[in-house]
Amino acid sequence: MNANFKIISVSDSSHAGTRVDESGPKLVELVDKSLKVNATVNVGSPTVVPDDVKEIRKALLEKCKNSDVIITTGGTGFSKRDVTPEATLEVIERRCNGMEIAMHTGSLKVTPMAALSRAIVGIRGGTLIINMPGSVKAVKECWEILEPVLNHALDLLKDTDDGSQHQRMK
Ligand code: MTE
Repeated sequence: MNANFKIISVSDSSHAGTRVDESGPKLVELVDKSLKVNATVNVGSPTVVPDDVKEIRKALLEKCKNSDVIITTGGTGFSKRDVTPEATLEVIERRCNGMEIAMHTGSLKVTPMAALSRAIVGIRGGTLIINMPGSVKAVKECWEILEPVLNHALDLLKDTDDGSQHQRMK
């Protein structure tokens, strides 16, 4: 099985070039080196967008056309500019509460600060969209939590009743 992953880093400062995006490249590395995702994984360079609902939504819709999994990093917190969950909610058709709870409870075992993330997980067409917090530490921890369930998630996403590939939303 082939699985196309896309990474979107959400950060005003990285988009403006005043801060180096470290979490996006870390996610690319984690996905690329995954031993638990039992698929031929393709993952390109991260796309960097500002903390803006329209820009995040646009990037998500664009990447949904040819991705099985999109992971965003950043913008899940409480500040006014943290709007990644709002943009994600506008795009998804089905919410994956179980993966949200897994990421949340797993993260709370590491740090009480995990309570400050509003990360959403959901499905649009045949694409799974996962929000992760913005730090390198958080993406490592969240990837470790979700990585073991991704194979089965991909199997289910790619299957339909008639055995054909799930029709992606354009
Ligand atoms: N989750 C994990 N696993 N590890 C972390 O270090 N940091 C928290 C939280 N979730 C953290 C975490 C912190 S400090 C914040 S403010 C929120 O994620 C939101 O982060 P974001 O605004 O960068 O998305």
